[in-house]
Amino acid sequence: MKLARRVEQLPPYLFARISELIAAKRAEGVDVISFGIGDPDIPTPGYILDSLKQASDVAANHRYPETEGLPEFREAVARWYQRRHGVTLDPAREVVSLIGSKEGIGHFPLVLIDPGDVALMTDPGYPVYEIGTMFCGGEAVKVPLTEEDGWLPRLDDIPADLADRAKLIWLNYPNNPTGAVTDLAFFERAVAWAKRHDVIIAHDLAYSEVTFDGYVAPSILEVDGARDVAIEFNSLSKSFNMTGWRIGMAVGNATLIDALRRVKSNLDSGVPQAVQQMAITALDGPPAAIEAHNDIYRARRDRVIEVLHALGLRVDPPKASLYVWARLPGGESSSAAYAARLIDATGVVVTPGISYGPAGEGYIRLSLTLPDARVEEGLRRLSAFARGETVLNR
Ligand SMILES: Cc1ncc(COP(=O)(O)O)c(C=O)c1O
Repeated sequence: MKLARRVEQLPPYLFARISELIAAKRAEGVDVISFGIGDPDIPTPGYILDSLKQASDVAANHRYPETEGLPEFREAVARWYQRRHGVTLDPAREVVSLIGSKEGIGHFPLVLIDPGDVALMTDPGYPVYEIGTMFCGGEAVKVPLTEEDGWLPRLDDIPADLADRAKLIWLNYPNNPTGAVTDLAFFERAVAWAKRHDVIIAHDLAYSEVTFDGYVAPSILEVDGARDVAIEFNSLSKSFNMTGWRIGMAVGNATLIDALRRVKSNLDSGVPQAVQQMAITALDGPPAAIEAHNDIYRARRDRVIEVLHALGLRVDPPKASLYVWARLPGGESSSAAYAARLIDATGVVVTPGISYGPAGEGYIRLSLTLPDARVEEGLRRLSAFARGETVLNR
């Protein structure tokens, strides 16, 4: 059997490799503690689950949903953007539901990228941006980020001929994996740059509500005229601990939203309506749940940073996201080798920065989405490792 090149060229999905390492360690009888995947351990709030239970009794919700989502869901998204960002959206033309934002991000290049077309993406970055482009036969060109620049791209340093060839650029703030954040001024510059070079901006705002220390994440649509060139991907997953329910939304430029809806209508049949009802409840609900979750993540963030410092890793406390992004101690150059050593010596899993692109080398990422007791046990082992003690008795 000869599989398509697009499949053969697929790099092993980042977490698949980590899963293999975890499985091998578990087979040795080790109690593995994973700071790998960013999947909230805290359950979906009860009042959101209640609306799922009620909606499951409604026979209309047992049937195929519409690709674009219920009008009521799109109206709730518009209300959310109005309340949260001061952005007015037309729910009929500027909002489409997604089966989690990953689905929309993966499919969006089908809207813009023909074989040979260029899409830009920041490096390190969420791997799906690149794969979606690759599936379309496009050329994914990475824009390297640096710690010195606060993990923001220097758009004006992108060679003009490359910028002119590019049809699309992916941005993501608050950022996975670095936890970097930005302000509206950056988005203003990005929109001006995109208009100059006729590039569409796809902004991924999946972590907009996971913020700390008073930081409030802007939407790119808050910029005047952004809608001419921008689409934004958003998600209920991290904001409301709903990763398992698979619901998100794309908002912004009406032509792009309509094209994405048309692509999707040929591939999927939308989000289960009962799940859309959950999302409506979540979006219209009080901010208390978000604040309570962020308090938990912030406390974990501070504990993790304390112990990483003892290990000789340097960390800027992130103002957002579910991640701590740490620079390896001096003398350590391979993030994969360092992560493998940690798993082997302590049974603690971290993600090597190289998994997010070449510019992620020299860093590791720790996710804050495991219960407090597991965080503490993981940190206890890392501290012991830092003191040169044997951690695992095998
Ligand atoms: C940057 C970023 N965007 C999008 C997603 C996808 O989230 P979901 O499909 O659950 O909405 C993730 C998931 O980890 C992510 O890290």
